[in-house]
Amino acid sequence: MNTELISIMDLSTESMKDLCRAAEIIRRGGLVVFPTETVYGLGADATNAEAAAKIFEAKGRPSDNPLIIHIAEPENAERYTYTNDTYFRLARAFMPGPLTVILPARECIPPETRASLPTVAVRCPEHPVARKLIELSGVPIAAPSANISGSPSPTKAKHVIDDMTGRVDMIIDGGDSEFGLESTIVKIDGDGSLTLLRPGKITVDDLRSVCPSVKIADAVKDKLKEGETVLSPGMKYRHYAPRAEVFLLDMDINSAAEYIRKRSKKCRVAAICYEEDLETVRDKAPGVTIYEFGKRGDELTQAHMLFDILRDADKKELDELYAPLPRAEGLGLALYNRMIRAAAYHIIRM
Ligand code: TXA
Ligand code: MG
Repeated sequence: MNTELISIMDLSTESMKDLCRAAEIIRRGGLVVFPTETVYGLGADATNAEAAAKIFEAKGRPSDNPLIIHIAEPENAERYTYTNDTYFRLARAFMPGPLTVILPARECIPPETRASLPTVAVRCPEHPVARKLIELSGVPIAAPSANISGSPSPTKAKHVIDDMTGRVDMIIDGGDSEFGLESTIVKIDGDGSLTLLRPGKITVDDLRSVCPSVKIADAVKDKLKEGETVLSPGMKYRHYAPRAEVFLLDMDINSAAEYIRKRSKKCRVAAICYEEDLETVRDKAPGVTIYEFGKRGDELTQAHMLFDILRDADKKELDELYAPLPRAEGLGLALYNRMIRAAAYHIIRM
């Protein structure tokens, strides 16, 4: 397949011509990679079963893992799902933005899009290019993250060019993703309480400001037990896994640096380091490849950098990658959830 690459950084008259062509591809049942504020999405018409099926093929995605449908206005959810009060409270507080809500699906969303589940995930992105593309298409756009299944979600145009060239009709380069981790996903329970299925920029505290009862699904922090059923099919796959083995270090920086030094004598090692720790690690473990990870408490910067670091680590053919264990609270919960999976739950404590 021939993939057209275009760059759209604003909604100028020139850009609108390109966006109209992208929308035309979506309407005809084709695939378009587009930027959002979280990560890049691989989009197709969510109401077209054949188009949705093409997404699974392009990504190599298991067909039992449902897609998120993207809408241009929060109230459009009513056309494709059965909404409720809690949805609109969430929408008023956080949409457009990095929040996805699971709702009962209407018939117009085919089983191919929602992996035959009775529900569908809905998100109204904030990114102006994404919203305009959905609006011009006139249909909801089904879009998973635009990576090959199993590799980190793309947050830069070069990531999607690497993964999706030859697999999609068009790639829209919209610059770097602002946040860099995928949206927060919640399910609304019968009594109006929420269950967090995937943590993101909208934190548990944010959700609690709108809806007092918020549970955190076990799979957010912990490994699934053998045979355990999941609330969100995506949680059962080993995600975000680089080729190098990843280990999370839960110890003071001197012990961590010493541990990294010892391993660096045995194999090819890199370390993800907070700014405050750079000197210690450089001193104690000379020659180890270092990825700077922003200041210790600067979780926004860390979220922005994580997937790019994991992709780069893949290219470097490392054996082992060491990173500090993030806190499992606030914004840190989103980092914790992604990093613990990349590390296949390997935490080294001292
Ligand atoms: O930020 C994002 O959410 C990005 C951008 C492109 O919008 N999209 C994204 O999609 O991360 P994806 O497919 O990579 O992740 C969607 C997750 C999967 O884990 C899937 O299992 C879950 O949402 N999901 C989708 N529909 C669901 C449903 N009806 N019930 C429970 N989980 C669902
Ligand atoms: Mg994904």
